[in-house]
Amino acid sequence: MVEAVRVNLQREFETPEARANPIPVYAKLRKLGPVLRSTALYGEGFVLPRYEEVVSVLKDPRFANDRRNVPGGTSMDRWWMPAILRLLVSSMVLKDPPDHRRLRNLVQKAFTPIMVENLNGRVAQITEELLDAAVRKPVVDLMEEFALPLPLTVISEMLGVPEPDRINFRKLIAKVLDPAAVSPIAFIRNYPHMLRLNRFLRRLVNLRREQPGDDLVTALVQAEEGGDRLDEDELISMIFLLLFAGHETTVNLIGNGVLALIRHPDQLQKLREQPDLIDSAIEEMLRFTNPVGQVAPRFAREDVEIAGVRIPKGSAITLLIASANLDETAFPNADKLDITRGPNRHVSFGYGIHYCLGAPLARLEARVAIPALLQRFPRLDLAVPAEKLRWRPNMGLRGLEALPLSVSPAGATAGRSAA
Ligand code: HEM
Repeated sequence: MVEAVRVNLQREFETPEARANPIPVYAKLRKLGPVLRSTALYGEGFVLPRYEEVVSVLKDPRFANDRRNVPGGTSMDRWWMPAILRLLVSSMVLKDPPDHRRLRNLVQKAFTPIMVENLNGRVAQITEELLDAAVRKPVVDLMEEFALPLPLTVISEMLGVPEPDRINFRKLIAKVLDPAAVSPIAFIRNYPHMLRLNRFLRRLVNLRREQPGDDLVTALVQAEEGGDRLDEDELISMIFLLLFAGHETTVNLIGNGVLALIRHPDQLQKLREQPDLIDSAIEEMLRFTNPVGQVAPRFAREDVEIAGVRIPKGSAITLLIASANLDETAFPNADKLDITRGPNRHVSFGYGIHYCLGAPLARLEARVAIPALLQRFPRLDLAVPAEKLRWRPNMGLRGLEALPLSVSPAGATAGRSAA
């Protein structure tokens, strides 16, 4: 048996340099070995930094997402947890079959590709409105004015929040999902907003029961599979999951993706000249900029061997999908952004039974937003030196706090040099 090298994962990523550019840190971890040891949130555990092992664990039923399914494992749900938090930790991403299959089947129906494709026009309209507002300013914070409000507006409308409540709802979600609120104190401060959101969603569910509409909450309320339905707590838990899993991730795809293009002017130029490269460009942004660093932890149901290392049953495994996406053995010239890359089997949306439910929506939003932004602004430049950009202190989700850009709208480029 091989002994796994020990690392301190938390410490590896806590410096501002590592947050700004995690590529060398991931390279170092991959070099240390296919299986590493580290202390994680769930106690002593293992870390997988390479592509092959990450994918193989993601499709291996010997690993559980729900700790209760591991011998001696306990639920993440605790008696002292506020009810609202218990709803979050009981969401389907932390469940295994058959519970997971049941919940996923019920929501999948409400989340069909056709339903998502139908949103194209509306996503384009919201994008144009946001750009109309941005165009009036010489410096735009792309996060605040574009990347954040776009997915938030889309999801509020998708859920079927009535028009008069939408502004309040968006403000409330922005507070609950405040990316700066990662400390325990910030969590406590945020708690009243969570309660308000919980009450808001329960009222929305009741409204859509009485007045069905052409929206996701109505579809979830009506979703039925073999006489089975989601009960009210499951419904709220599902809506929370959609809000949490779908929001900051998409925000980061747009923010990180645009920054990557600005920092690789040859790729930006190529995309401007060949707009039909947008689909492969988005896949490459997903791979290279890694909006999500790691998936939910997996737990070994039995003793397992990975690359010669014994993983005792019950162990927690951290799967670094961001590192897998940069693995040279799976992606030639992995540390280069190449918008024409193909094949591009990145694992940014995960793999296997928990593969991202919202992937078509995230792709649609990026496919509409990024070309519209490029078209509106023939020049996009960082308004601050790159080393001044601030990254959020969250290893799981990689994103910027702000992205100040100096922009020149189409028709206003005279006198400025090309990017
Ligand atoms: C760029 C944007 C996104 C990225 C990178 C992303 C990434 C991921 C990843 C990696 C997983 C797998 C988690 C695991 O295996 O532990 C996942 C699951 C999930 N995502 Fe996304 N996501 C994005 C957008 C969205 C959107 C827009 C929604 C919905 C509105 C969404 C809803 C979900 C749900 C419900 C799951 C759980 C699926 C399951 O457990 O079966 N995601 N996502």
